[in-house]
Amino acid sequence: MSKKGFIFDLDGVIVDTAKYHFLAWQRLAKTIGVDFSEVQNEQLKGVSRVRSLEKILAWGDKTLSKTEFERLMNLKNEDYLSHVNDMEDSEILPDVTKTLDFLIEKNQAIALGSASKNATPILEKVHLLDKFEVIVDGNDVSKAKPDPEVFLIGANLLKLKPEDCIVFEDSVAGVQAANTANMISIGIGENDVLHEADYIFKDFTEMSQEFLEGLISGDKTKQVKKNLPINN
Ligand code: G6P
Ligand code: MG
Repeated sequence: MSKKGFIFDLDGVIVDTAKYHFLAWQRLAKTIGVDFSEVQNEQLKGVSRVRSLEKILAWGDKTLSKTEFERLMNLKNEDYLSHVNDMEDSEILPDVTKTLDFLIEKNQAIALGSASKNATPILEKVHLLDKFEVIVDGNDVSKAKPDPEVFLIGANLLKLKPEDCIVFEDSVAGVQAANTANMISIGIGENDVLHEADYIFKDFTEMSQEFLEGLISGDKTKQVKKNLPINN
């Protein structure tokens, strides 16, 4: 049977931490007089901590000294970690464990590809760490999604070619990173947000075992240029 690499994003794919990132950034932004919407928040998903604060400052037309920038990033992280500390296994998103177990049973390679520097403690907290053969997180990369670095490192560590890897992502930046890496991109979330993905599911409960088998066998392939104008 063929072996594929399944690379999972963490926040918003495995656990529902996206809402905690949003709460913590929003609270912090308010302290410096910046307000941002849930629509703008989509642009923060998958994006590193540094880049997120840069974007928020740009939205509010603010500049900060390097020291103040560092201080605010730390404050945001402390606030975020206070939510993480209370997390329980029940916050694993629906059918994620089932999907991981199915892929493990089918002898597939599984990696984490996340921008978060908190990835390992979060996976430990929800008792999923041992399901992953490889962890690539914000501590291992120098370029943030949509750069494909995080996923390319993952494929390399799994000893698989990028075209034999499949990425699960809830963020636009992450879907773009997977596409640039030439991996099959599977968006987890809304169609209108994640339309650049090869396949989109609301969550893992909608993904059938037949679909996963199709990815493993290679029957399900990368979709080509779906959104080209017809008169091209
Ligand atoms: C993920 C989240 C982002 C977050 C980034 C860094 O990609 O989607 O919202 O900013 O990780 O997370 P960290 O835990 O290192 O602040
Ligand atoms: Mg995410």
